[in-house]
Amino acid sequence: MNDDTPIGFFNSSVGLILSSSRPQGWRRCHFHNKSTERTCMQGCDASVLLDPTPANPETEKTAPINIGLAAFDVIDDIKAALEERCPGTVSCADILVYAARDASSILSNGRVRFAAPAGRLDGVVSRAADAQRDLPDSTFTVAELVRNFRRKNFTVEELVILSGAHAVGVGHCSSFRARLSAPPAQIVPAYRDLLSAKCGAEGPGADPVVPNNVRDEDPRAVAAAFPPFLGKLRRTRDLLDNSYYHNNLARVVTFNSDWQLLTEKECEDGCTKARR
Ligand code: HEM
Repeated sequence: MNDDTPIGFFNSSVGLILSSSRPQGWRRCHFHNKSTERTCMQGCDASVLLDPTPANPETEKTAPINIGLAAFDVIDDIKAALEERCPGTVSCADILVYAARDASSILSNGRVRFAAPAGRLDGVVSRAADAQRDLPDSTFTVAELVRNFRRKNFTVEELVILSGAHAVGVGHCSSFRARLSAPPAQIVPAYRDLLSAKCGAEGPGADPVVPNNVRDEDPRAVAAAFPPFLGKLRRTRDLLDNSYYHNNLARVVTFNSDWQLLTEKECEDGCTKARR
């Protein structure tokens, strides 16, 4: 992101209204869009949106680490609507950032708000290998996470705060397979059983998705494997609140990278502070 890009750049020229469908995907999409840049000085360039072509069959989208990124069609629809109203004015990169900003606000019932500068240009370089190399993996240790975030000028505090986005959305079983045999000190056995049951339900070779947040689980699955957590279920899914920190400190999260935050003092202190 360029420090000079103005906030409210489009306020007078474009009335941009974003649909609220699948907002949890946009938040992750923005993070992946931003994190695969070589340097933040180049800006969030929406290269994650580019489809593979015969000339470039392996764009960022095709990288295994980008598993689950979705809702690209919604961004396409927004871009098409904007092009009709004000051609050549709003880049896909800006649309993605606005989508992430509005998704954060919608999912948190207006509690998470941040200003989004505008005026980014779309990039034309998109390589799966860059995404694979630069994005943090759910198998990372805390030291690897800290190093990965630091390379993009994110602090440890920001790592902890941004990880709180895992209060919403879903993950594929392949993204946390090793957690299914992790010891009780790392994951509550009843929760591990619940995940194992769901991940095995569709047979060998299948890779189902489960909610990142136990709060969003199917009540029947929780009643069968994890009755003490029945009280934590909510009728409204995907609320972006601080339940991630409660769950993490209670060892009830899916990704190894989330649990890893408890193995380093500054990160663990950050989780405890955010739980309040
Ligand atoms: C700390 C390093 C991070 C790692 C290792 C990580 C890893 C992952 C993985 C493996 C998934 C599931 C992908 C799948 O199997 O479909 C996921 C989902 C998600 N992540 Fe992260 N993530 C990290 C940080 C972030 C950040 C900083 C954000 C946003 C600020 C974020 C937002 C999300 C969201 C919203 C989802 C759910 C997406 C959906 O429902 O489709 N993550 N993350």
